[in-house]
Amino acid sequence: MEEMHINRMPLIGDKAPAFKAVTTQGPINFPDDFAGKWVILFSHPADFTPVCTTEFMTFATMADEFKALNTELIGLSIDSLYAHIAWLRKIQELEWNGMKNVEVKFPLIEDIKMEIANKYGMIQPNQSTTQAVRAVFIIDPEAIVRTILFYPASLGRNFDEIKRVILGLQKADKDKVATPANWRPGDDVIIPPAGSCGTAKARMTDKSEDKYCLDWFLCFKRESK
Ligand code: BEZ
Repeated sequence: MEEMHINRMPLIGDKAPAFKAVTTQGPINFPDDFAGKWVILFSHPADFTPVCTTEFMTFATMADEFKALNTELIGLSIDSLYAHIAWLRKIQELEWNGMKNVEVKFPLIEDIKMEIANKYGMIQPNQSTTQAVRAVFIIDPEAIVRTILFYPASLGRNFDEIKRVILGLQKADKDKVATPANWRPGDDVIIPPAGSCGTAKARMTDKSEDKYCLDWFLCFKRESK
């Protein structure tokens, strides 16, 4: 059967589309330049706008926390490199919410032609045909899209939640577990569902101290003692 090529944004589980870009930190070649690292690729509607400014101050202030999680940040908007540079210089002069002298050290992509934004579905025409929505793509060290978040222009993102997503994905990968609602590091985690009647029965009779089940399909591994 002939292979069909459908031009659509990447979804969870897809390979993140490759691109080369001009950024405030020099040219980048994604994903090759980020091999072996987690990447948060995020877009914002425009430079010199208030919500975006608070987001950049917050994200830049947390950049070292993300680095400690082997995670690199890459921003993008439909603005020129010179607008980006001027905005990032202005941000460094501002003081807000206890943050001041904030230096944005992660790359901010110039995407005037919207090539990368279109590849990633960051332009959502009923919101705007000239500005990206607030998109967040969380991409793993094998360049696979693991989480996608979209926010409207009026709503500033919660960067603690974005960090929680990275922590949850890394925990799930490392320990082959899932994480329950509102999970925070140190909370108990979920053991993958029983895949057979035998496992379901064994789960309910297992008396080991580090596990407990509310029912055969809802079993936890204790993280805290
Ligand atoms: C802002 O960042 O404040 C913003 C950007 C685009 C539209 C509305 C608000």
